[in-house]
Amino acid sequence: MLNFQFHSPTEFVFGRGTENQAGELVRKYGGTKVLIHYGGGSVLKSGLYERTAHSLEAAGLKYVPLGGARPNPVDTLVYEGIGLARREGVDFILGIGGGSAIDSAKAIAAGVPYEGDFWDFYAARARPAKTLKQGCIITLPATGTEGSDSTVITRADGMLKRGMSCDLNRPLFSIMNPELTFTLPAYQTASGIVDMMAHIMERYFTNTRNVDVTDRISEALLTSIVNQAGRVMREPENYDARAEILWAGMLAHNNLCGVGRETDFSVHQMEHELSAKYDVAHGAGLAALYPAWMQYQMSQNPMRLAEFAVRVFGAEMNFEDPTVTAWDGIRKLAAFYLSIGMPVNLRQLDARVEKSDIPELVGKVRRRKDGLVGNFRPLSDADLAKIYELAFDWQA
Ligand code: NZQ
Ligand code: ZN
Repeated sequence: MLNFQFHSPTEFVFGRGTENQAGELVRKYGGTKVLIHYGGGSVLKSGLYERTAHSLEAAGLKYVPLGGARPNPVDTLVYEGIGLARREGVDFILGIGGGSAIDSAKAIAAGVPYEGDFWDFYAARARPAKTLKQGCIITLPATGTEGSDSTVITRADGMLKRGMSCDLNRPLFSIMNPELTFTLPAYQTASGIVDMMAHIMERYFTNTRNVDVTDRISEALLTSIVNQAGRVMREPENYDARAEILWAGMLAHNNLCGVGRETDFSVHQMEHELSAKYDVAHGAGLAALYPAWMQYQMSQNPMRLAEFAVRVFGAEMNFEDPTVTAWDGIRKLAAFYLSIGMPVNLRQLDARVEKSDIPELVGKVRRRKDGLVGNFRPLSDADLAKIYELAFDWQA
């Protein structure tokens, strides 16, 4: 096991009606004037915006709204939000909605006290020394942004998608009411399920040994998500199923599943450029890449893939040839994706994806300083191109 620091300071307020505590919570953390940041309107339709505003008023707080964060949020609205927050003297940012609205809110919180261009943080030219206080109300279990140290923004000029991770990005509080997720379209529910599973898998496929506690927590979460997925897809208003999925999504990405080991995240880096270019749902993009990535990584450590197959999908271990079991796991994962309406290759993801786009995608993927991506088997440009190609019309 590697040395680690685990910092998950967020206060999670979970359950029915908890959005009505927003005002109280902002006050508790010292906010006096709030920027409520949201997306394209789902929170207006559901009444969440109104209830939140009411809760702030009841707590004697002032607020200004800023809507319009689109899926795969862009920098242009972040600049607008930074300007608005400064002009209005806002001291607290409250993101309400899915991961996109909350990521955009985190970006505004980082940008307001910074004298330079907030994009410096995303381009890895600077790290935030402080951020404005921020909290959130999550309506889409997927990204784990409600507990994560990350925010992901797309640069509209050039459509480059970049993440920024630092502990200051972790919300002071996150309100999590499973009922707020009842209205999700099935495709978004399914994309969210793929995304949270991917957050665990990016940490699970590792070369670090002797992390059994972290492994078993990861496997338990993955199994629970798979078990609840069918229920939540069939019964979108099943409170208990929604609650399990909502909580799992947070645990998948606050790094509980990453402690003590090297993590990978190459599939995420590859996907970010897909959702930047084609504006697809992040989770669906991950589903279109994962089976191909696993196939490509088979030779790296077939036993690891076989363990995933056995412990998460109940495959039978073939001790003589673990690649047989590993393959079984890939097929079971792909069948699971298909069962919830997700793609398993790029052709199914979006008809606009062309093979001729692969060099552009490869060129945009964020690399480490040594030019490689990920850690399980670090990927060169040639590897990335091969995986995109394999993913193009991957089949079990
Ligand atoms: O924009 P509105 O009108 O709110 O509608 C949204 C949007 O159209 C809708 N929606 C959200 N909650 C709803 C709802 N519709 C009905 N009922 C509800 N309760 O769903 C659509 C998608 O929302 P979005 O916020 O874009 O989805 P998601 O939560 O999956 O966020 C995706 C973004 O997060 C990034 C992704 O790359 C992508 O940009 N990620 C952020 C991470 C992080 N901060 O830690 C990690 C992830 O790996 C990921 O990269
Ligand atoms: Zn993700």
